[in-house]
Amino acid sequence: MMVPAHLLLLVLFCSVFLDRGDGACAEVDSDTEAVAGRGFKLGCISCKRRSEVKGSATVEWYFRPKGESDFFHIYSFDERGGTVEHDLFMERIDWNGTKRSNDIQDASIYLLNVTFNDSGTYRCFFNRILDYDNDYEYNDIIDKVVHLTVVAKATRGTASIVSEVMMYVSIIGLQLWLLIEMIYCYRKIAAAGEEALREAANAEYLAIASESKDNCAGVQVGE
Ligand SMILES: *[C@@H]1O[C@H](CO)[C@@H](O)[C@H](O)[C@H]1NC(C)=O
Ligand SMILES: *[C@@H]1O[C@H](CO)[C@@H](O)[C@H](O)[C@H]1NC(C)=O
Ligand SMILES: *[C@@H]1O[C@H](CO)[C@@H](O)[C@H](O)[C@H]1NC(C)=O
Repeated sequence: MMVPAHLLLLVLFCSVFLDRGDGACAEVDSDTEAVAGRGFKLGCISCKRRSEVKGSATVEWYFRPKGESDFFHIYSFDERGGTVEHDLFMERIDWNGTKRSNDIQDASIYLLNVTFNDSGTYRCFFNRILDYDNDYEYNDIIDKVVHLTVVAKATRGTASIVSEVMMYVSIIGLQLWLLIEMIYCYRKIAAAGEEALREAANAEYLAIASESKDNCAGVQVGE
């Protein structure tokens, strides 16, 4: 089966960027706008600073509803797996973080069936233990904050609207340019055609003229 060359290139390109092994970690900020009734990934990533050092981490998530003053514990994750810690989130949280490892760098969770009551501030804590050659342990607590707003319908960022408008403008521009180019070409071809016809007519006239001249010459020679 033939694989188009550009597809092959794309696959190559992606594998170069994605296949950097488990060591690659980027602290991408969480999205902050969820749509009511849908699922939402609450992102929380803390990259280990010394990637060659062995480490383990447990994770705790806290939540403070919008307009309230206290955080409460909603979820924890350790080597035994995840546990929902509050009734408001029963059966509504899935782990979306680092899989099959207790060396957690991604502690993201997934909220199922988001409600308007889920608006507020989320805080995730990493309790990380770095193990330097088994004789020195370093305990690190890192916390991150996500301010979540729940909306009825996804609002679109200005950037995506601008890029869509630019797309239409460029498509229309391109078509106009094509049209102008076509008219221009058509005119040029038409003009060239007339010119050619005129030239052809001239050439024919000359040919006839020279032929008759030859004939005349022949007649002269023959006489
Ligand atoms: C996060 O978890 C949800 C629910 O289990 C799943 O549908 C989704 O694909 C997961 N996303 C990632 C990026 O792991
Ligand atoms: C989400 O809510 C809908 C309707 O309220 C329900 O049918 C569905 O089972 C819920 N899904 C989850 C994963 O809780
Ligand atoms: C949201 O909170 C209000 C007030 O506490 C409560 O009456 C309502 O049932 C809650 N809605 C959901 C979907 O949990």
